[in-house]
Amino acid sequence: QSTKENKMVDYWTYFAKGVEYTLIITIVSVFFGAILGTLLAIMRLAHNKVIHYLAVAYIEFVRGTPLMVQVMFVYFGIGAVIQSMPALVAGIIATSLNSAAYVAEIIRSGIDSIPVGQTEAARSLGMSQAKAYRYVILPQALKNIWPALGNEFITLIKESSIVSVIGVADLMYQTQLVQSATYKGVAPLFVTMLIYFVLTFTLSKVLNHVERKMNHA
Ligand code: ARG
Repeated sequence: QSTKENKMVDYWTYFAKGVEYTLIITIVSVFFGAILGTLLAIMRLAHNKVIHYLAVAYIEFVRGTPLMVQVMFVYFGIGAVIQSMPALVAGIIATSLNSAAYVAEIIRSGIDSIPVGQTEAARSLGMSQAKAYRYVILPQALKNIWPALGNEFITLIKESSIVSVIGVADLMYQTQLVQSATYKGVAPLFVTMLIYFVLTFTLSKVLNHVERKMNHA
């Protein structure tokens, strides 16, 4: 037993490093998740049955399996083919692929939330299906999609903690290092909880602000 009291502030560099990794994984995954998710949503709307069902199968499968299993599958699966793939890269790939499925559903429900009457009205005014989408459906759907995409961002800050299982040095992983170094189980977790909360709460305030601005525009 060390006589020196282990204070959490002495380990702030661990927590700082963890926040850095958590934010990198989250931001990169939100970006690629949004792009892939939009592609999936478009594929799902396609008239081609094969493309449609490929998208449906992907979305259902990814949403129906745990992110933890997906993270490990990507890490060990791709790792078996490409030697020495960094855990960080595997974590980002898995989280992005996971997020894409959820984003696709967000976009679909945003589009579904616009009454058919809107399409019918646009069509009866002589607009093509594509024009109706571009000028009538999507502008309204986007209003519903933005807040939900913001929620996905917040979700990823929290859910990305699972990449710690493959050794990515995110906030949760650093917490475990601090636990080992200090022989303390609870205090590091408490600090980490506070940090996650500050991150999600701040982001949600920022997103609310942006949303309010958009509604006034
Ligand atoms: N814990 C859930 C799972 O393991 C969350 C998945 C991530 N959710 C998300 N919106 N990207 O499946």
